[in-house]
Amino acid sequence: MFCALCVKKMIAVLVLLIIKPGTINADWSVRLENPNPCAVKGSSVELRCSYNYPDGETVQKTAWYKGDLVDGLWKRVALSHLPSYQNRSEYVGDLQHNCSLALHDLQNDDAGYYYFRFDTNTYGRHSKTSVYLTVTELKARVHPERVRAGDNVTLECGASCQLPNTVWFKNGHPVSKPNFTVQAEDAGNYLCAVEGQESVQSDPVTLDVQYSPLNVTVEVSQAGLLMVGSSVNLTCSSVANPAADSYTWYRSTSPSSLLQVGSGQVLSLPSVEASHTGLYFCQTRNRLGESNSTHVLLTVTETDNHRLILLVGIGVKVAILLLLPLLVIWIWRQWRNSASETENHDYENIRAIKRVEG
Ligand SMILES: *[C@@H]1O[C@H](CO)[C@@H](O)[C@H](O)[C@H]1NC(C)=O
Ligand SMILES: *[C@@H]1O[C@H](CO)[C@@H](O)[C@H](O)[C@H]1NC(C)=O
Ligand SMILES: *[C@@H]1O[C@H](CO)[C@@H](O)[C@H](O)[C@H]1NC(C)=O
Ligand SMILES: *[C@@H]1O[C@H](CO)[C@@H](O)[C@H](O)[C@H]1NC(C)=O
Ligand SMILES: *[C@@H]1O[C@H](CO)[C@@H](O)[C@H](O)[C@H]1NC(C)=O
Ligand SMILES: *[C@@H]1O[C@H](CO)[C@@H](O)[C@H](O)[C@H]1NC(C)=O
Ligand SMILES: *[C@@H]1O[C@H](CO)[C@@H](O)[C@H](O)[C@H]1NC(C)=O
Repeated sequence: MFCALCVKKMIAVLVLLIIKPGTINADWSVRLENPNPCAVKGSSVELRCSYNYPDGETVQKTAWYKGDLVDGLWKRVALSHLPSYQNRSEYVGDLQHNCSLALHDLQNDDAGYYYFRFDTNTYGRHSKTSVYLTVTELKARVHPERVRAGDNVTLECGASCQLPNTVWFKNGHPVSKPNFTVQAEDAGNYLCAVEGQESVQSDPVTLDVQYSPLNVTVEVSQAGLLMVGSSVNLTCSSVANPAADSYTWYRSTSPSSLLQVGSGQVLSLPSVEASHTGLYFCQTRNRLGESNSTHVLLTVTETDNHRLILLVGIGVKVAILLLLPLLVIWIWRQWRNSASETENHDYENIRAIKRVEG
């Protein structure tokens, strides 16, 4: 029963095809590859399209239309009549079977229904189906927005529809992975773009990484030996987020003795004494933690001692200058002696033998 019905229907279709081949609906068609394309504002999109008509027909005109509200009524308006599309729409199809349309520099208003129409020498046809184009904007997000060094973050490139692959940039440089464990140097401005159309970008989003003080260093206003009574300033610097808000200075004179000698970013010693000699370091702190600087050695010397050391230094230099020629002469002599010794070796042997014989 069922099969008999099938066969009857098939025969009916075949008969129709044989009798009136040119007017069968299936021969006239417009096919849109993606009925719901979505593209990013500012980017380009191609509405891929192909069309068919019976052999013998000749295509004379093609046009794309947009569904538009005109005086409260939905109408199909040719893109060529819409000024906003003048140099942004491009027919990349042909008069055979390709009816693709490219739209450039997409605007929010470009969202909507699009139709294709072609006229042959005998018929004009609209596409049976339309394409609905969605125009979206990229929105970059970082989760979480405030992180501490060591936390994991996820970069999210949001859009109101499914987008092809997106890529990330940090301060203009590509980011390899959208999930990572943050370090202090990952702080910066991130933005995303659609792969292949990198010039169309989201607004940047800032990743704020908080960390305890790093790279703590001490700068000494005056290097080298300090004379008693002179003034010296030690300045502690570090990189931290938030900035360091507490500084503590320590001096150690032996591994077991540690003295707290001040606070504040600058340790000012306006008139140093011998007892100020020691290893200095600072400890900086923000609410995430603390960190110690490298150690800096301060040596304070009495003025007289200093002169003495200076004089001794000069004396040593003078002595070296006087002794050096003598040393050179002595070395040269030694060398000459040993050279003549090897020359006279055979003679010496003979002399020794003669001595034995004699
Ligand atoms: C066409 O493009 C040019 C520059 O690309 C622009 O200045 C002009 O306003 C555009 N015309 C229309 C009608 O959009
Ligand atoms: C139509 O032509 C365009 C531009 O040459 C091409 O990108 C597209 O793939 C073609 N589409 C079809 C359906 O052949
Ligand atoms: C961060 O991610 C790594 C690898 O994906 C994982 O091993 C680690 O446990 C995560 N850390 C935190 C704090 O979630
Ligand atoms: C990134 O992390 C999110 C949530 O933590 C997870 O769903 C996603 O699969 C991760 N992606 C990659 C590429 O690891
Ligand atoms: C700390 O110093 C190291 C080496 O000098 C440097 O590579 C790093 O970028 C610095 N860290 C910060 C947060 O400035
Ligand atoms: C140390 O700092 C104080 C004030 O901060 C300044 O008056 C003084 O000149 C500085 N001394 C040196 C040696 O830089
Ligand atoms: C810094 O030095 C202080 C005093 O010696 C010590 O108690 C502290 O543990 C040190 N901190 C770090 C991070 O090494």
